[in-house]
Amino acid sequence: MWGVAASAPQTESREGRGRSNWDVFMDNVGGSADGTNNMRNTEFEKRYLDEFKMLRDAGVKAFRFSFSWPRVQPETPGTPNAKAMSYYDKLIDAMLEHGLEPVPTLFHWDMPLWAGDFLKRDVSDKMQDYADIMSRLVGSRAKTWLAFNEPSVIAAFGYGKGTFAPGYHSKKTMGAAIHHINVSQAKIFEAVRSNVSAVKIASAFNIMPFEALSGKKEDIDAAHFIDVLWNQSFADPTYGLGYPDLIKPLVEPYIKDGDLEFIASKPDFYGVNFYSRTFVKADNDKHSILGTIPIAPPSELEKTQEFPYDPNTYTKILLDIHNKYGQPDILATEFGFAIEEDKPINGILNDPKRIKYIQGYIKAAQEAVKKGVKLKGMMYWSSTDNWEWTLGLSHHFGLIYIDKNTLERIPKKSLEYYGKCIKANAAAD
Ligand code: NOJ
Repeated sequence: MWGVAASAPQTESREGRGRSNWDVFMDNVGGSADGTNNMRNTEFEKRYLDEFKMLRDAGVKAFRFSFSWPRVQPETPGTPNAKAMSYYDKLIDAMLEHGLEPVPTLFHWDMPLWAGDFLKRDVSDKMQDYADIMSRLVGSRAKTWLAFNEPSVIAAFGYGKGTFAPGYHSKKTMGAAIHHINVSQAKIFEAVRSNVSAVKIASAFNIMPFEALSGKKEDIDAAHFIDVLWNQSFADPTYGLGYPDLIKPLVEPYIKDGDLEFIASKPDFYGVNFYSRTFVKADNDKHSILGTIPIAPPSELEKTQEFPYDPNTYTKILLDIHNKYGQPDILATEFGFAIEEDKPINGILNDPKRIKYIQGYIKAAQEAVKKGVKLKGMMYWSSTDNWEWTLGLSHHFGLIYIDKNTLERIPKKSLEYYGKCIKANAAAD
């Protein structure tokens, strides 16, 4: 399955939906680092056809996107908003008409305000209801679904460090979020499995190895804690391995009888978002929640705008997933590259660095496949440039450029290159 990925909160505008946890968070902090905000984004909800035509023409076969829960149930639980339902209904048909297999994500971080947050367990019933509504609407028009996008980012940054919505800042809130996300995931799986026959459902886990660059024990221990927290708190219990020992003290206050069996909800594949490794050292502030501070990567790794270029680690983590979780089918739900780039000249934007990145990561994935990894597909993040959360609109990941004033879409050279890889079913020259 060769696709591209995107999400509603990063591409749809705020128009026509209820206020979300991210709207409140961004308005409170005064916008993203580059002075932009999530008001208009790319107006995907009005302009998706332009994009789908470009993707179809390039040969892209699948489109990963998310539903906006604050659009579906803007102000209250219960009956969904009719306009939202009609929009998503048409959107799915439009994908199919353009030869794009729809791969919906139910929760890509944006939440209606009435639904509360992951501190309370009852959020899982609200999510189950929302998943039930959307899976009835879509039915078997979509065969591959995702419940959560990057639960570790939500827990660590939204409920631990406080740098993402909703901005909680303690180990206690982080522990509650980890467990309640796992319960919610299992309930979403139940709802979708009961409405869509032969569905394949999983979550998209962000896998990012954390390493200490020094040999100091305190740095190694701190890196180990964040590594386990980030990479294992969701996959391990979901695959029936229980919570890692380091995480147990955080989640134990929230676990009820039968929970560990219930959350071992056995995904139908392993969804993996991979960008790169991260390097950290111990944070000696005794109030530090994650226990680490980031440090610059070693110089041999070429830095992109956000993450180092690191294909070797990609092969390694795909093999690690294969070996640890019982050789599951794997879907690369995201890989992507952000860089500061010029505007198109005469309608052409050459982005050779992105092409090199795509080629390197596809080759790395092919290496893993040669060694037995059951990789079923890859999805490039992202279809278009979009709103990169707290970093704003200036972080460009897209295969398609967006003119910030007119919101016109212009395909980059990398889209053409990605199309060649799709045709070859391998990294093209
Ligand atoms: C992870 C997230 O799923 C997505 O929302 C984000 O924009 C990209 N990766 C790039 O950071």
